[in-house]
Parts: sequence; structure tokens; C-alpha cells
Amino acid sequence: KISRPLFLIFIIISKLFLTCLYCVVGVCCRDFSISLPQNIQALSGSCVIIKCRFEIEEKHDKNLVPKRAATGLWLKDGDKMKDHLVFHSTDPKPNHFNGKITGKLHEKNCTTVFYNVSSKHTGRYYFRIESGDLKYIYTVNTSTINVLEGSSVSLRCSAETLCSSPPPTLTWSSTPRIPLSESSRLEELISDLNFTATHRQHRVTFTCTITYQLQDENKTAQDSITLHVQYSPKNTSVSVLPSSSVLEGSSVTLTCSSYANPAVLNYTWSRRSEGQMEQLQTGDTLTFDRIDQKHRGCYHCTAQNQHGTQNSSVMLDIQCKYYITANFTLSHSLISDSGAESL
Ligand SMILES: *[C@@H]1O[C@H](CO)[C@@H](O)[C@H](O)[C@H]1NC(C)=O
Ligand SMILES: *[C@@H]1O[C@H](CO)[C@@H](O)[C@H](O)[C@H]1NC(C)=O
Ligand SMILES: *[C@@H]1O[C@H](CO)[C@@H](O)[C@H](O)[C@H]1NC(C)=O
Ligand SMILES: *[C@@H]1O[C@H](CO)[C@@H](O)[C@H](O)[C@H]1NC(C)=O
Ligand SMILES: *[C@@H]1O[C@H](CO)[C@@H](O)[C@H](O)[C@H]1NC(C)=O
Ligand SMILES: *[C@@H]1O[C@H](CO)[C@@H](O)[C@H](O)[C@H]1NC(C)=O
Ligand SMILES: *[C@@H]1O[C@H](CO)[C@@H](O)[C@H](O)[C@H]1NC(C)=O
Ligand SMILES: *[C@@H]1O[C@H](CO)[C@@H](O)[C@H](O)[C@H]1NC(C)=O
Ligand SMILES: *[C@@H]1O[C@H](CO)[C@@H](O)[C@H](O)[C@H]1NC(C)=O
Repeated sequence: KISRPLFLIFIIISKLFLTCLYCVVGVCCRDFSISLPQNIQALSGSCVIIKCRFEIEEKHDKNLVPKRAATGLWLKDGDKMKDHLVFHSTDPKPNHFNGKITGKLHEKNCTTVFYNVSSKHTGRYYFRIESGDLKYIYTVNTSTINVLEGSSVSLRCSAETLCSSPPPTLTWSSTPRIPLSESSRLEELISDLNFTATHRQHRVTFTCTITYQLQDENKTAQDSITLHVQYSPKNTSVSVLPSSSVLEGSSVTLTCSSYANPAVLNYTWSRRSEGQMEQLQTGDTLTFDRIDQKHRGCYHCTAQNQHGTQNSSVMLDIQCKYYITANFTLSHSLISDSGAESL
């Protein structure tokens, strides 16, 4: 009676051994993962491309084949299908974002383009794949889209003509060079430089040069203007020191940073617990001297200046100091399943 369970244990151990051998060889180690750009800047009114590749557990390979039309979904600012779905590749809804998955999903390419981007696209994006029995949302790696609001700028350079000589020429230059849309024009000695200014043109100097071709010499004159572009907070991010997975009892500091012009007026911290947002404090840092389980959660930092706000969040995971690794339930149920009830 004793020998039978021992035999079973032997089988289990040898199976475990074989499984481990497979793992070492690398056969069973393929897991769900995704690679996405962490931050994407998009200009309001234009489109945005999310370069995306994903990987699945190998047991799902049979679900991801060309004949099963796979569906790619994007969720924004959260991973709940009913609250956060903003894009469905096979069943788009009127309130969804206008876009297209340009990559081939069965080749694990989830590259996506969103058209006609506006400020409502700003946020954190989660990808979900559905194909047959495979349904998986990638929550570890996400992509944050920042939509830059542009406002139109018109710079005009004009010059007087001299009656005798050929008409002068007007040229615009900027340092660093910005790609100019087809708005620069030369007409009757007025040259307009029309473009959409974003924070990229902050402190850029534009110079207009006028050249008169005279009989035996060329005379030039120029004038410059430097743009000061004001913008709401951009690239807001939260960093955690020493790390976002911290040991109970240790000291942890969250730091929020952001770019804005004028500079950020105030940073506000809040925390989501049980679906409610709880306001914590202001200031660019949030420090816990002795962290414990009740501090676990999702922390948000909101940066604000005169022109707007932007937020960023981080998940704080507090690890227990002690934990039990043995699992007695498992070995018992394996033995009894195999008919060793008499034990
Ligand atoms: C997250 O992204 C990094 C870099 O793109 C990649 O190496 C890693 O495997 C990804 N992890 C997951 C769980 O998707
Ligand atoms: C993924 O698809 C996009 C769009 O079709 C393509 O440009 C890109 O080269 C593909 N990437 C890979 C790694 O195949
Ligand atoms: C782009 O979005 C704006 C506002 O969100 C809307 O008024 C406009 O019609 C859209 N244009 C296209 C081509 O979808
Ligand atoms: C540039 O903008 C100005 C002012 O809005 C306008 O009068 C002019 O026609 C525009 N020029 C071009 C080339 O679009
Ligand atoms: C003046 O500029 C024109 C056009 O760039 C050029 O062809 C011409 O040789 C210049 N004349 C002198 C005297 O430098
Ligand atoms: C935000 O980050 C991007 C890329 O990291 C950078 O190109 C951009 O200039 C940054 N924005 C600001 C306002 O600094
Ligand atoms: C942040 O500053 C703005 C502008 O001064 C003010 O309206 C807002 O109430 C401040 N927020 C907090 C949480 O102090
Ligand atoms: C963060 O920003 C998003 C999008 O702008 C907004 O929906 C959300 O309420 C903000 N969260 C906080 C905590 O301010
Ligand atoms: C122990 O094994 C049981 C049965 O397989 C499982 O349900 C449970 O989650 C396991 N517990 C731990 C802590 O791994």
C-alpha cells in the first residue's frame, strides 16, 4: 500500500524533471509580452502610428493563424473592456477612435495608426488580442500618447522695391531648421511663413534675409524674430526611488516631473482606491518613511500650469517580508486523483 504512492511520486518527480529539461532547452518558455514605444508625441489634427509587436504563449499558437481573423483592441487609461475600450479592429463603434491596425496580427504585428488625433487621444494605451480561445490584454507594457496642441503662427517679411534694379529676393531661415509646410510664398515682396507652432519651436529664431541685386554688388539686409511658445505640461512622468516594487518597512519616494512653459505651478498627488480618487498632497515629491501593505496602489500625479494639466501614474507594489512557498494542497490532490484513496 505504501509502495504505490511512492511510485506515483517517482512519476511526478520524473515529469517535473522532464518539464525542467524542456524549459532549459527553451521550448516552453515563450510567454506573453509586447513591445511598444513608451511615449509618443502626436500633433493635434495629424495621425499617430504606434509601432507594436506582441508575443503569445506557445500553447495559443493554434489560435493565431491567418484563417481565424484575429481582432486587435486598444484600451485607454485602464484595462476594463466596458469602460476603457477605444478601438476594436473588427467591430468599430461610433464613439471609438478612427484608426486601423496596419500590421498583420497573425504575424504578431499590432502596429496601429490613429487618424485625426485630438487632445482626447492623450493617455495611456493597452493592447488586447482576441483570436479563437486566445484573449489577452497586455498590462505590463503600455504606450502613452501625448497630443501637442498647435496654434497657427504667421510671420510676414516685407521689403521695399527699388525702381531700377531687378526685384529683390526674400528668404526665410530658422535655427534649428523646422520643416515648413507649403506656406512660404513669395509675392510682391511679401513673404509669409505660416505654420503650426508647438513646443518644438520654443526659442527658435526665424530670420528673413532680403537681397538686392545691384549693378556691381549684392546688398543684403536681415531681421530676426524669436518665438516664445507657451504650452501646457508635457511628458509628465512619475519615478519611484528605490523602485516600484518595494519591501515592506522601507522608505520610498515618488517624484513627478514635467515640462511646461511657463513652468509647472503645482503638482498634485492622488491615489485610486476602490474606484475612488483620494487627494493626497501637493509638491513634486511624495515620501513614505515606512511603507506597508496599506500603501499599495495606483498613484497619480497631476502637473498644472496656466495652460492646462497632464497626469501620469505609477503602480506601487509592496512586497511582504515573509511568505510561505510550500504548497501541500497540490501534492495531496495529485495523489488522490490517481486512485490512492486508501492512503
Ligand atoms: C516590455 O517591453 C520591453 C522592451 O520593449 C521588453 O523587453 C519586455 O519583454 C516587455 N515585457 C512584457 C511583459 O511585455
Ligand atoms: C509591422 O507592420 C507595419 C505596418 O504594416 C510595417 O511597417 C512593419 O514593418 C511591420 N513590422 C514588422 C517587424 O514586421
Ligand atoms: C477630426 O476631428 C474633429 C474634432 O474632433 C472633427 O470636427 C473633424 O470632422 C474630424 N475630421 C475627420 C476628417 O474625421
Ligand atoms: C498666412 O497667414 C496670413 C494671416 O493669417 C494670411 O493673410 C496669408 O494669406 C497666409 N499665407 C499663406 C501663404 O497661406
Ligand atoms: C548677386 O546674387 C546673384 C544671385 O545669387 C548672383 O548670381 C550674382 O553673381 C551676385 N552678384 C555679385 C556681384 O556678387
Ligand atoms: C518630450 O519627450 C520627447 C521625447 O522624449 C521630446 O522629443 C520632447 O521634446 C519632450 N517634450 C518637452 C516639452 O520637453
Ligand atoms: C494649482 O495652481 C492653480 C493656479 O494657481 C490653482 O488654480 C489650483 O487650485 C492649484 N491646485 C492646487 C491643488 O493647489
Ligand atoms: C488624467 O488624465 C486623463 C485624461 O486627460 C483624465 O481622464 C483623468 O481623469 C486624469 N486623472 C487624474 C487623476 O487627474
Ligand atoms: C496551491 O495549489 C492549489 C491547487 O493546485 C492552488 O489552487 C493554489 O493556488 C496553490 N497555492 C499557492 C500559494 O500556490
